[in-house]
Amino acid sequence: MSSNYKSFIKTMATLAEMAPPPLQDLSLPELQRQRWLHPDQYIQEDFRAVYIEGQVIVGSPTDAEGIFSKAVKRNSVAVAGVELGDEGKGRVVDNKLGALLDIPGVEMAYVIRSQGGNNAGHSVEKGDQKLALHQVPSGVMYDEAVGIMDKGMVIHPEDLRSEIELAEEVVGDTRGKLILSGDAILVTDLERAEEKFNRKVQDKAGGGTGRGISPAYAHFTDRLGNKINDLLAENWREILGKRYDHYIKKFEAEEMSLANTTVPDFKASKSAKAEVVRSVGTREEFLDRLEYTRSWLIERDMVVQNTYLIHQEAYEDLSKGVIFEMAQAAGLDLYNGTRPDVTSSNTVLHGIANGTGFWMPDMIDEKIGVIKATFTSSVGARHMPTEIPLNKSIRGPKDLGPDASADEQFGAFTREFAQEFGTTTGRPRDILWLDIPFLNYNIQMSGVDVLAATHLDVARKDLKIKICTHYTDLQGKFVPYQPGLEHQQGVVPQYVEVYGWDAEDVRKAKSFDDLPENAKKFLAFVQRRTGVPIVIATTGPDRENYLELNNQ
Ligand code: IMP
Repeated sequence: MSSNYKSFIKTMATLAEMAPPPLQDLSLPELQRQRWLHPDQYIQEDFRAVYIEGQVIVGSPTDAEGIFSKAVKRNSVAVAGVELGDEGKGRVVDNKLGALLDIPGVEMAYVIRSQGGNNAGHSVEKGDQKLALHQVPSGVMYDEAVGIMDKGMVIHPEDLRSEIELAEEVVGDTRGKLILSGDAILVTDLERAEEKFNRKVQDKAGGGTGRGISPAYAHFTDRLGNKINDLLAENWREILGKRYDHYIKKFEAEEMSLANTTVPDFKASKSAKAEVVRSVGTREEFLDRLEYTRSWLIERDMVVQNTYLIHQEAYEDLSKGVIFEMAQAAGLDLYNGTRPDVTSSNTVLHGIANGTGFWMPDMIDEKIGVIKATFTSSVGARHMPTEIPLNKSIRGPKDLGPDASADEQFGAFTREFAQEFGTTTGRPRDILWLDIPFLNYNIQMSGVDVLAATHLDVARKDLKIKICTHYTDLQGKFVPYQPGLEHQQGVVPQYVEVYGWDAEDVRKAKSFDDLPENAKKFLAFVQRRTGVPIVIATTGPDRENYLELNNQ
């Protein structure tokens, strides 16, 4: 596979050396590329056309309709969560990737991450191989896929090294299969310590995953932070040493010790299957740890300075498919999620534009929003109106008392059956009823145009399922959804209650028609309320529990 990537590099190099073809024979994207690759020649040609031959043409030429518009890239798919994360996007990405690679003529696919970092977690499976990934795009299991960690991501290089080494124990050598943008935002233990610092010093700074995500993005916007390129620079020790000194001062002002501040230890946590911490250490310890990763990064030769050229090549070349794998979900979007309890990136499809610097959402062929079918789950400090009040000590129905309400019974069943516990921390997630006002808002602003409903098997015949259709105030007056937790204070979710079904009946379905009637009605109702086609349902944990839906 790495041969695909190598052949790509060769093509770009060869192109740069080639004499450019005449402009009039080229399609618009090709024409643009030629202008980039051979500027001297075309500057002269343009100059002659306009200033010598007097071809003064401005505006849309009516006889060449469409040539100035950007075409949709065939064989491109974006997958984004539209609730609060952990919807099961990995399954959908994985399936779509397999489908893309099966298309005749498609030889390889790029799997592109454009935002988020080690706050994300997605599990991928292939045969009996299983991987938990965080920063690495999920195509790593496929020979014909190349993963791109693009410039909108926040990358912790030491964690990345550990993650890749763990992945390689399962899938073998990944050289040539992973590309990291030199412009990606660097996260170190300093930003992780800063997240703790912020939590201690400011009331508002709660709820993060402790992976340094918010300080790293904050320092991207205040332009004081670092990029992967800074770690690769000759004088990297000076650059990052200065950064350490700056943090020391900041911590000392609050009588805190930077060296003794503990941060998550990814590698140790993975082997202990529980959150393990280590301290930031002294300036030398901090820099030595980075050096260990830096030399590995250099030796692996995975950092690319201009991912733009890769995107451009992928855009034009029909033998290449593209999958955009978004992390987190629309409900966690920095601008329009459940503020203040959001993450710090654009988790909606516009995040792809910023995070790759190339792809606008309307260039993408298939835009899939992922939801959990019968419920929603949430981690973090937020409390949403449709949350089922369920003590964190309740891990399943056996922990409930005899007086448990119907809501608690559904919540406890769901937590256990759907294994709603954090992948690293093991902490129980909050369980929420499906919230249509929240969902409709997220679908609209995330830019997805179809839905995949996962976890359709999370239901029981004897438990009714509630769907929140709208919110009212205490007097029963309609309250429209607005993003931002303060707008959800005091709203009263209004529900319809529908019949459940048997998980086993769902799991054995081979098509929509095989599904239990109540599951079909449930999907049809959600589709009508959201106004977006539900085109995929996952019906159980196994690979074959995946249905493409179309029963019109
Ligand atoms: P941060 O991204 O670490 O700053 O965390 C901010 C918020 O986003 C917290 O409430 C997290 O629990 C939530 N969050 C971040 N990543 C994920 C994810 O992958 N799934 C679910 N929640 C997430």
